[in-house]
Parts: sequence; structure tokens; C-alpha cells
Amino acid sequence: MALDFSVRREMFSVMRKKTMPAKVPARLLRSAKRVMKNAHAPYSKFRVGAAILLSNGRVFSGCNVENASYGMTNCAERTAIFSAVAQLGPKIEIRAVSVVNDHGVPCSPCGACRQVIYEFGPDATIFFQGTKGPKQAHITELLPEGFRLQ
Ligand code: THU
Repeated sequence: MALDFSVRREMFSVMRKKTMPAKVPARLLRSAKRVMKNAHAPYSKFRVGAAILLSNGRVFSGCNVENASYGMTNCAERTAIFSAVAQLGPKIEIRAVSVVNDHGVPCSPCGACRQVIYEFGPDATIFFQGTKGPKQAHITELLPEGFRLQ
């Protein structure tokens, strides 16, 4: 009988010996909340903060930056990732991402941000507010079959 997807994922995680120190979610959330206050969100009035943990232990954060030409808006997650690349170069590996908003409503990374997270963190864990409270998910749960150039 085929194993349930969540069971297979759990087994895969154990096989990869993935370890995430217990303090990581709280550390990232603190960072995300702090940077959220810098958001430029006059159009949506929805401030978002994101923090990412890299495999080298560094934490980078970012907020959403909106524009009068709405499509030019940059989400908090991409701001954090792009600033990490700008500081350290492209050889970063994202271990974890935390997202928070100032409305306290469910908010997971948008599709575009999922693809950008996947580029630098194909094994990343995402912490966010789900419909039933705080939630964590592997990037491949949020973005199955993410795009990659070989
Ligand atoms: N936004 C983010 O920054 N991250 C998300 O995960 C979801 C949406 C921003 C984009 C826009 O500035 C505002 O939230 C409303 O969509």
C-alpha cells in the first residue's frame, strides 16, 4: 500500500537528519516583527515582515515595499532574500523563513515568493500564520514541482 504523503515526507526528513534548533522560529519571528514596521504599504495597508535563516547561521530580514504602480510591489520574503544575496552573494542556502503581518491574519508566502525561496532553499522550512494558527511547512509542500534549471 502506498504511504500517505505526510508519512513519506516525515521519513524523508528523518533520513536527511534535518535538525532545526527549537529557538529558530522565535528568533526569526522576532526579526520579522521588527522589520515589518519598516514596510511601505500605503496602498494595501497590510504590513508584512519576513526573516530568513541561512545555513551559515546568518539571519536577514525584509518588509514589503509597495509602489503606486501596484505590480512593482516587492513582498517581504523577496526583500529579505534579495538583501541576503546582495550582502553575501548567490551561494546562500536558506534553512528557514518566517513571515508575519500586522493584521494577525493567515498569510503564507505568495506563489512568486515560493519560487524565489525554492531557488535558494529547496529544503527550507517556512513558518507562517495558517488558518488554524501558527504553522510550519516544507517549501516543497507549498511549491510542489518547483522550477529549476539543470
Ligand atoms: N505580501 C508580502 O509581503 N508577503 C506575503 O507573503 C503576502 C503578501 C504583501 C504584498 C503587498 O504589499 C501586501 O502584502 C498585500 O498583498
